[in-house]
Amino acid sequence: MESYTPVEPTEVLSQRAELPADKVVKLDGNENPYGCSPKVYQALATYPYYHNYPDPEQRELRKALEKYTGLDRQYIVCGMGSDELIDLILRLFLKPGDEVINCPPTFGMYPFSTDVCGGRVVDVSRDEDFALDMAGIRRALTKRTKAIFVASPNNPTGTTTTDKEILELIEAEKIVVVDEAYFEFSNITVANLVPAYPNLIVLRTFSKWAGLAGLRIGYGIFPVEIAGHLMKIKQPYNANVAAQAAVLASLADIEYLLSNVNKLVIERERLFGKLKELDWLTPYPSQGNFILCSLPKGKAKETWRQLQKRGISVRYFDTPRLKDCLRISVGRPEDTDAVIKVLKEVKHG
Ligand SMILES: Cc1ncc(COP(=O)(O)O)c(C=O)c1O
Repeated sequence: MESYTPVEPTEVLSQRAELPADKVVKLDGNENPYGCSPKVYQALATYPYYHNYPDPEQRELRKALEKYTGLDRQYIVCGMGSDELIDLILRLFLKPGDEVINCPPTFGMYPFSTDVCGGRVVDVSRDEDFALDMAGIRRALTKRTKAIFVASPNNPTGTTTTDKEILELIEAEKIVVVDEAYFEFSNITVANLVPAYPNLIVLRTFSKWAGLAGLRIGYGIFPVEIAGHLMKIKQPYNANVAAQAAVLASLADIEYLLSNVNKLVIERERLFGKLKELDWLTPYPSQGNFILCSLPKGKAKETWRQLQKRGISVRYFDTPRLKDCLRISVGRPEDTDAVIKVLKEVKHG
C-alpha cells in the first residue's frame, strides 16, 4: 500500500532551510499560525492529574461539546484527531474487500485508512470545478459499498458540498461521512441533520480553528447507535488528559479563537486577491484556511523548491488530478506578503 504523505514539523523545516525556527513560514499543514488560546497554556500548566488515566467515557469533554455543537452528548465521540475517527469508522464497518467511495482530489486519510482496514477504495473524481460527480457516485455504488467520504470544505480544493447533495448521498443508505475539519472557516454544516438519519456522520477537529493540531483531538457527531459501537471499539484512553484540558480551555475562550478565525478568513480573501494578480497561476476560491493554485506545466515543483529555499513551506501536489498544483495555507498578513514576494521573483510567464 502507499504511505500517507505527512507534513513535517517546524524544527525539521528550519534545519533544512538553515534558518532559525522563527523565520520559517509554515504554510503546508493548514495549521493555525495564531496558535492556541492563552487559556490552554494556563490550563496545561495547572492541570493536577497527569498521573491518572483519562476518562474513557470522555464525560467532561462530551458535555462541553454538547454546548458547542448544540447536540446531545449521546451523539458525540472524541478521538485522537479526526484521523483516529476516520480509522475507527472504517474498522467498524469494513470487512476485507468492502468498498469505500472516495472523491479525489481530497484528503489522503480516507484511502489510507481504507487500505489499512483491508477495504477497497473506489475513486469517483470530482468535476472540473471540484464539485462532487453525483451521477458518478450513483454509478459506483454496489452491494459492497460501505461508506462514502466527503470533506466539506474539501482539502485541498476548498470547495463545499450542498445540503441537497449530502441528502442525496444519504438516500443511498450507505454510511455518509461529512468531514467538516474546516467548518469554522466556512460556517457551513450538516451536523444538525445527524439526529434525523441513521447513516450520517459529521467529523470535526480542534486542529485547525482552535490551533491544537499537535495535541491531536477531534470529535464526531454520530447516530446514537454508531456512537455506542465506537465507544466500545475505541482504545479506552484515546483522548488524553492534556488534549481534554486544552479543549475545555479552548471552549471557554471561543470568542478569542473565533476572532483569529475571522482574521484568517479576511487574510484568505487578501491572499486570493494577490494570487489572482499573478497572471501565470490560477488560485481556486476556498472556504477553508488554504488556497489551491494551479501553475503552468512543470513549474509547481520548481516554485515549491524556491519557496522552500527561503524557508516558506507549502504543499506540492503531483497527482493525476492535481498536476502542477500548490496548496498554500492561509497565514498572517506578513506570511502572505512573504509568499507573494517570492512568487513575484520566480514569475513564470
Ligand atoms: C479534511 C480533513 N480532515 C481531517 C483532517 C485531520 O484532522 P485531525 O488533525 O483532527 O486529525 C485534516 C487535516 O489536514 C483534513 O484536511
